[in-house]
Amino acid sequence: MVNVLILGSGGREHALADAIHRSNRLDRLFVMPGNPGMAAIATLIDDDPMNNDVVRSFVIEHHIELVIPGSEVYLRNGIADALQDLDLIVFGPTRQAAEIESSKRYAKDLMRRHAIPTAQYAVFTDYDKAVAYVEQQGTPIVVKYDGLAGGKGVVVATDKEEAIAALDKMLRERTYGTDGVVIEEYLEGPEFSLMCFVVGDILIPMPIAQDHKRLLDGDQGPNTGGMGIYSGVPIIPDEVVDQAMTTIMEPIVKALADDGRPYVGFLYGGLMHTTDGPKVIEFNARFGDPEAEVILPRLKSDLIDVILAVTSGRVPEVRWSSSYTVGVVMASNGYPGTYRKLVPIHGLDKIEGSVYHMGTTIQSGQLVTNGGRVLLVVGQAETLAEAVHQAYANVASIKCDSLMYRRDIAHQSLKR
Ligand code: AMP
Ligand code: GLY
Repeated sequence: MVNVLILGSGGREHALADAIHRSNRLDRLFVMPGNPGMAAIATLIDDDPMNNDVVRSFVIEHHIELVIPGSEVYLRNGIADALQDLDLIVFGPTRQAAEIESSKRYAKDLMRRHAIPTAQYAVFTDYDKAVAYVEQQGTPIVVKYDGLAGGKGVVVATDKEEAIAALDKMLRERTYGTDGVVIEEYLEGPEFSLMCFVVGDILIPMPIAQDHKRLLDGDQGPNTGGMGIYSGVPIIPDEVVDQAMTTIMEPIVKALADDGRPYVGFLYGGLMHTTDGPKVIEFNARFGDPEAEVILPRLKSDLIDVILAVTSGRVPEVRWSSSYTVGVVMASNGYPGTYRKLVPIHGLDKIEGSVYHMGTTIQSGQLVTNGGRVLLVVGQAETLAEAVHQAYANVASIKCDSLMYRRDIAHQSLKR
């Protein structure tokens, strides 16, 4: 029996907690700091997971055998390194290996060295040179901040003015910090998220999902952390996923190992199905959010068993449900800009199926909003159309004055 600690407080961590809670191998489950949605299935620890010393003391004192960092911020903060000498499993990469996400420049250079298909690019710290490059390349073009920017550091610029405005923000005003930018060729095609369990040269793919990053219906409006998601993505053929495994996921894991940065944990390929085959948009060093909320409900195997198997060098058989899952994000009006908080939420007790909490808290005994993305409501069924229907029926049960959501989740696959 295993004691588990999950780090984080969002919908992804809620879905991880849910999957761990279903395990027959679980002894005690702790989440630091967690959220109100998990209170029924885990012990919430009101400490700061960004303090590696606090986490270290906690895992020793509570005989934790498995730590799952939810967000990249803990990985970049070196939690895997800080616990490396202890007799436990951290299912997440070291700070250096996590640079596959935290440094776009490192990721792009590694892909270039290993001929892994991705957009052409150039790296800049100098504003004038970056502007000259945009002028020479033309538009559309993509400007990316070369560090963590909470999902907001990417601008797909349709014209020169938009590209230069992004460079102003990133290289002159230093809105996200002091890192440089990567300027990339614009790629076209449907996107998909391919998550794998990775340890050494073992890679186990999960079913793919498709995120909806733009705020509004029809993929309009600003980029967000993700407004909805579905798993089981009929518009992406299985052959393309197989090709992505052999041309992208397997080579990048090998490349990291060859670079002295062996990878452990969930590896996320944000990929695009272009007319030249699958190409990398980005890698993430952790489970996707909201991908976790629709992929993990399809896992029929025991999550602790799978992690213990791969970390001891075995390749387990991992079983997945054939059903489709759809997740609709309910976000505060105003997100990704400013928004009200602490608005009461009612109706969660009327829902059939899962609701994952992304940004909630309890005030005077009442569940209230406490973030930009607040809830993720899941529908699960044997057809995609039925799963969409179920997700929106659940959304309709939730009563809250300040939440909005997209009405077209899964549209790319449904309109076929
Ligand atoms: P990222 O944060 O890197 O996932 O980028 C956010 C979104 O910007 C992606 O999901 C894509 O829709 C878009 N994007 C990023 N890079 C490119 C690219 N090279 N070409 C076209 N779209 C891109
Ligand atoms: N779904 C986007 C992300 O997790 O980065």
